[in-house]
Amino acid sequence: MMRIVITRRIFHEPVEALARRFDVVHNEEDRPWSPEELALNLRGAAGAMATVMDRFDEAILDRCPDLKVISNIAVGHNNVDVAACTRRGIRVTNTPGVLDDTTADLTWALLMASARRIAEGDAYVRAGDWKIAFGVQYFLGQDIHHATLGVIGMGRIGQAVARRARGFDMRVLYNNRTRLAGDEERRLGAEYAERDRLLAESDFVVVMAPYSPATHHLIGAAEIAKMKPTAILVNSARGGVVDDMALVEALQAKRIAGAGLDVFEGEPKVHPGYLGLRNVVMTPHIGSASRATRLVMCNTAAANMVAVLEGRDPPNPVN
Ligand code: DGY
Repeated sequence: MMRIVITRRIFHEPVEALARRFDVVHNEEDRPWSPEELALNLRGAAGAMATVMDRFDEAILDRCPDLKVISNIAVGHNNVDVAACTRRGIRVTNTPGVLDDTTADLTWALLMASARRIAEGDAYVRAGDWKIAFGVQYFLGQDIHHATLGVIGMGRIGQAVARRARGFDMRVLYNNRTRLAGDEERRLGAEYAERDRLLAESDFVVVMAPYSPATHHLIGAAEIAKMKPTAILVNSARGGVVDDMALVEALQAKRIAGAGLDVFEGEPKVHPGYLGLRNVVMTPHIGSASRATRLVMCNTAAANMVAVLEGRDPPNPVN
């Protein structure tokens, strides 16, 4: 029986399905393996079902000569050196499509929580600081309805974010490497804008671009300086697409009104500057974290793994 490795605790169903075909080594903890533990567990394994926190670089790949497939339980694959895998004949797969709506929902939750200061209000009530029943100028936030939403990165998740803006009668601008076709723009009610115009005109800037060397610090001090002082920045894409240091400084100086963040550079570490700020709402990389979606992601990753190891083309190839 071929051996496969599941690098993190997942759901019973896909583990049982895989165990009918393969000898399964399953890290049943939420604690990620160190690179050393990963390499040791992968010795002799043909497949790895992995999360975005497991790094597959040349050093690890050198130690796994039997590996045939890395099946990421994620749409993102910036944890894997795909070019190095291709050179070694290792297939890389991901789980696109199945998490778009769930991630778009969380993106909106962050947008709305930031705009209407939900986390701040919640902390205020819990702390017993709410002494006067109603204040005309209490917790004033930003209107979402009829405002302008700017989406940077108009892939599937960006489009799901844009579709939700219709219910709020918003104007939607977007920027993407390639412009959408006219009928797609009409269907989404979204207008293409150069990045500088999008930054200058949007009340909410949502970053949905995948991480790559080309998108490293796509939003930094210069970009933030172009935003309105009342604007809110939301990042539920990847840490590193936004320059955390620049954002902390901008939030401290109130150069923009707030931010909603699900992802950070160097997770699970968070820039300490964020922690003292009230104008930032943070969640711990939970964009796709509904039970239903995470189960589908695991089943999709399992199906990709099985396909490769049975000599078929996987449903979701990256290389
Ligand atoms: C993804 O799918 O890329 C999410 O960030 C979860 O890892």
